Amino acid sequence: MLIRSRRAHDIATAEITPESTYLRRREILATALTGVATLAFGGARDARGATTPKPPELGPIIESPYSASEEPTSYDSVTQYNNFYEFGTAKEDPAVQAASFQPKPWSVLLKGRLKKPGSVPLETFLEGHALEERIYRFRCVETWSMVVPWVGIPLGDILKRFEPDEDAKFVEFRTLYDPERMPGQKRQTLEWPYREGLRMDEAMHPLTILAVGLYGRELPNQNGAPLRLIVPWKYGFKSIKSITEIRLRTRAPQTTWSEMAPNEYGFFANVNPEVDHPRWSQKRERRLGDFLRRPTSKFNGYADEVASLYAGMDLSKDY
Ligand code: MTE
Repeated sequence: MLIRSRRAHDIATAEITPESTYLRRREILATALTGVATLAFGGARDARGATTPKPPELGPIIESPYSASEEPTSYDSVTQYNNFYEFGTAKEDPAVQAASFQPKPWSVLLKGRLKKPGSVPLETFLEGHALEERIYRFRCVETWSMVVPWVGIPLGDILKRFEPDEDAKFVEFRTLYDPERMPGQKRQTLEWPYREGLRMDEAMHPLTILAVGLYGRELPNQNGAPLRLIVPWKYGFKSIKSITEIRLRTRAPQTTWSEMAPNEYGFFANVNPEVDHPRWSQKRERRLGDFLRRPTSKFNGYADEVASLYAGMDLSKDY
């Protein structure tokens, strides 16, 4: 088993890594992984050769007991091979086209079936929640995957603060809609804004987090600054970026990709090597940085934790 079941709030204060130790550890890790000294803290070069400064460091950060014990993918790969159609459709586009995006100030609108709705500045939204680093496997619907040290907060802990009603059965998420700041929205590549959804039990599952950073730093714009979802047992498209709206609903929301191509992308989107995408097999994946492909695991390797959520369902129909 890759994930221990101890809950984050059981962690004693003494186990919280002091920032200096944490950053030193990260620095050593970054250098060891890449073998390139400039990556340690000098900013990275994007695919077109431009230097993009790294975002500010976050801290203090708790090491999460939910982490996978796998070697993280390099910072460069995680931040330069992205899907973020608001900033272009090629994998190299977001690192370049999102470079001048300003994710601050930011607020999140909470609405629908909860007792305490409202628009909340990001700082207030996160207040009182400890930041955790969780090293999660991340598998995109196309055939690549990575292992990312995300920094985030369990979504369920945050939602509870806004007191969901009993009839809240689904959560809908929306990305910022602002074509001036997100130029890809001027083209009809997708129905804007990008929308995603989870069933309430999926949203409350402790593996589901809202991420505000990676590799100990604030989220780079191309990875969904300042706030994005991470659902590690689902294909990457569920992990919606730059969220401005969270709505609790009684019925399943429409989601961007299942609306665009319902025969290719379902609402659940659980990583499932047994169900092929109509245009390619989902049986194998290539971890960024690797040459050879490896077999894909059901639920992205998180079956022990989440398979019970889908007991009795036919996952070839509810894909
Ligand atoms: N969120 C928004 N708003 N727009 C997008 O185009 N792409 C999704 C998801 N979230 C996307 C998004 C897809 S298809 C994937 S695979 C992941 O983001 C990629 O996340 P990454 O760039 O951090 O690897």
